[in-house]
Parts: sequence; C-alpha cells; structure tokens
Amino acid sequence: MAYRIAIGNNKGGTGKTTTTVQLAASLAEHGKSVLVVDMDPQANASRRLGFRFDSSAPVPTISEAIKQDAEGVAADAITDIGWDQPYRDLIDLIPARFDLENRISEAAVLGAVSRLRKVLAGVDSEYDFTLIDCPPSLGHLTQLSLAAATAAVCTLEPEYDAVEAAVRFRDFIDVQAPELKNPDLKVIGYIVNRVRANLGAHDFQLEGLPELFGESVWCHLEERTVIKDAADSAVPLSALKNTTARNQAAAYKELAALVIKKAAE
Ligand SMILES: Nc1ncnc2c1ncn2[C@@H]1O[C@H](COP(=O)(O)OP(=O)(O)OP(=O)(O)O)[C@@H](O)[C@H]1O
Ligand SMILES: [Mg+2]
Repeated sequence: MAYRIAIGNNKGGTGKTTTTVQLAASLAEHGKSVLVVDMDPQANASRRLGFRFDSSAPVPTISEAIKQDAEGVAADAITDIGWDQPYRDLIDLIPARFDLENRISEAAVLGAVSRLRKVLAGVDSEYDFTLIDCPPSLGHLTQLSLAAATAAVCTLEPEYDAVEAAVRFRDFIDVQAPELKNPDLKVIGYIVNRVRANLGAHDFQLEGLPELFGESVWCHLEERTVIKDAADSAVPLSALKNTTARNQAAAYKELAALVIKKAAE
C-alpha cells in the first residue's frame, strides 16, 4: 500500500488543496509516484490537476466508487491528470464532483466510515504516496478519509481561527481514531501556510505554535501570488517561469523531502 496522507483542517481556505496539489508535484519531482484522491465535493484538487468532467463522456469518480462499496473498485475511477510530463506519468487522480455530497447521507449506515478504505484496497499498492484532499469539516467525508489514511497532515494559517481549527482536527483524530478503526492515526505534521512577513498578528501566532504542536510544525510557507496563480491556471509551480515561483517550488520540494523522510520512519 502507498503511504496515505489525509490533508485536513476544520477550517476552510487554509491551503489543504494547494498543499495536496503542489506536494504531489514536488513528490513527483523527487521521482515518487502519487495518487491524489479528491474527497471534497468542491472538487478543487480535480480542477487544479487539469481534470474536466465531460457529461457527454462521463467517467466514474470517487463518489461512484464509494457508493459501490466493493473492495478495490476505486481502480475504475483512476484518471490521468491534465498536466504536462513528467508529472503526467507520475501523478494519477481519482477525481470528485459536487455530487460527492450525496455520500454524506450514508453516514448512518453501519460500517459506512470504512468505505473509502475498502474501495481503495489494493488500488494504490503501486504508488509511493496517496494524498487525500479533505473538505473543511470533520464530517463523514473527512472521516472516510481519516479511516483510510496512514497519517494525517494539517494545514493552517497563523491566525486565531485556523489555529483553533487545527487543534480541533488533532483532538478529533486523537479521540475518534479507534472509532474509525484506525487507532494509530495521528497528525504527524502541521504546515503553516500563507505566512506574511512582518505582520504582528502572524508573528504572535507563529510564536505559540511550538507549544501547541511541538516538533510536528514542519514548515512555514509564504503567502505569494504565484501560488494562487498556479492554482487558478491549474499548473504546477514549476510551470511559472519567474523567480518567486521558482523559490516557492523549492519550498514545496523541501517539504516533499521531509514527507519522504517521515514516511520512511
Ligand atoms: N501560500 C499561499 N499564497 C497565496 N495564495 C494561497 C496560498 N495558499 C493558498 N492560497 C490560495 O488561497 C485559496 C484557498 O486555498 P486552498 O483552496 O488550497 O484552501 P483549502 O483549505 O483547500 O480550502 P477549502 O477549505 O475551501 O477546501 C486559493 O485561492 C489558493 O490559491
Ligand atoms: Mg480545498
């Protein structure tokens, strides 16, 4: 099985999808193969990886796989990404659409929380990493993701609400991991995103993070327009040819090296 990382936080807009997509790019730059699983009905990861749903030629997505609830059936939903080589060779996607929302009503069915794990069984054994992009809630879609994951990673901004939401995400996992039949699951890393230099409020929050999360604070990533540009244009940062993009791509590559090291521990 690939090393599966669920990327989450109980707050929207903290950079879960940005991290999923650009980390996939930088893991590929290290020669690693990656399966991205989009577990957010917003389907932002799917779009940013160049996936377009064509209703005249519909393909199965993660929603159909979970609905079928059969071992390994997510293999049928794997699709190529729209990026150029070498990323196209190394990164695959199980996309989402807005209708993933329909799976939430199944939450009360006995065993439903294990369905993503079941449908992914054996599907990602040939990949080095599986990155699961969670929605900004602690509800059923996130619980499906956590039940299937080897480890969780949290993205947060150095702002009060995002830090509180990261604490909720961590505590939820600590308490619920046995219920999710994944008792060893932990948040192994915190990625502090959208950091602005010389902003007093950020400095204050950054100072408090080691006390809350200890050595699991992996890195600080800056707020930079190029990161939004890459997301909007659905490309890896390396496709943007300017110095800031190169520097940000290097920061994600360093993050990928850390992830590779942590997965081997
Ligand atoms: N470091 C950054 N610098 C500049 N813009 C960023 C940065 N990180 C994320 N963004 C932008 O902020 C917005 C929110 O980021 P993103 O979609 O990754 O967050 P999210 O946590 O996945 O949100 P949601 O909870 O809605 O799924 C996007 O427009 C993204 O391009
Ligand atoms: Mg997102």
